[in-house]
Amino acid sequence: MQSVGVIGAGQMGAGIAQVSAQAGYHVLLTDVSKDRADAGKLGIAKALERLVSKEKIDGAARDQALARIEPIEGVQGMSSCGLVIEAATEREEIKRTIFAEVGKVLGHQAVLASNTSSIPITRLAQSSPDPKRFIGVHFFNPVPVMGLIEIIRGLATSDDTVKLIETYAKALGKQVVRANDAPGFIVNRVLMPMLNEACFALGEGVATIRDIDLACQLGLNHPMGPLTLADFIGLDTCLEITRVLFEGTGDPKFRPAPVLVKYVEAGWFGRKTGRGFYDYSGDEPVPTR
Ligand code: 3HC
Repeated sequence: MQSVGVIGAGQMGAGIAQVSAQAGYHVLLTDVSKDRADAGKLGIAKALERLVSKEKIDGAARDQALARIEPIEGVQGMSSCGLVIEAATEREEIKRTIFAEVGKVLGHQAVLASNTSSIPITRLAQSSPDPKRFIGVHFFNPVPVMGLIEIIRGLATSDDTVKLIETYAKALGKQVVRANDAPGFIVNRVLMPMLNEACFALGEGVATIRDIDLACQLGLNHPMGPLTLADFIGLDTCLEITRVLFEGTGDPKFRPAPVLVKYVEAGWFGRKTGRGFYDYSGDEPVPTR
């Protein structure tokens, strides 16, 4: 496999395109418009430039990786890709529409993968041209930094499809874990209840935003406190995944914290909207309460 198609040039899609190109794959990058795909490549150029300035890669490696990324209009050009990864908005109807479109051009041996963080793979596979060649490939944010890919096989996913993803992950230098198609897979099944519990603790007045974060950061040696991490992931995304856990298991332990629901209703989604548990308008994030 030499070419990888990436659908979605946002934070995750651009990250996937970057690490794929750095691993030597030719990458076709698309989004709802060519402008968005171009903007994704521009962001990758900046990320690679930072790596050069930190002497992690040299100028030649930057140029080679960039030259391997081709922003394109639509998905027509992806017929030559051995692997197409969808990293679009986390909405099932959007993903289904994409799979139907890409299904018209996907090669007969090619694998179609979704970077969904929570939608069941077996269900999504129904919109793909061949469920045997459909799989979940869950990357973590920031993609160039995080060393893991979670592989989720649907009921019909073939062993060959799993093998192809394992080979690809190895080329990217990422470790792989295999998860079954259960709500939240592994990481979000464990992570989201922790973030949600931090929201409950805040809502119940256990401690301030600063102290909840500092307690977990230093007391557990986590790189970020849970409320900072929730802002980083996006509170809308956290709520969405928590709802998938709650509805998928029927277990009340996964019920979303009222504070999380309220912040999302207010449009305070975290870093991406400039405000969540922290206000990001200044040089340093400031806790909002
Ligand atoms: N892109 C690329 N590189 C980045 C980056 C980004 N967005 N942000 C930080 N980095 C790099 C820095 O350049 C630096 O590299 P260096 O050590 O080679 O110089 C390194 O990461 C450390 O960054 P900083 O020194 O700026 O800051 P921190 O030490 O605070 O690290 C962090 C930043 C890597 C984001 C760290 O705080 C962290 O690991 N946080 C937790 C992230 C996490 O848990 N992600 C998973 C979220 S869950 C998920 O994605 C699943 C989804 O389904 C919800």
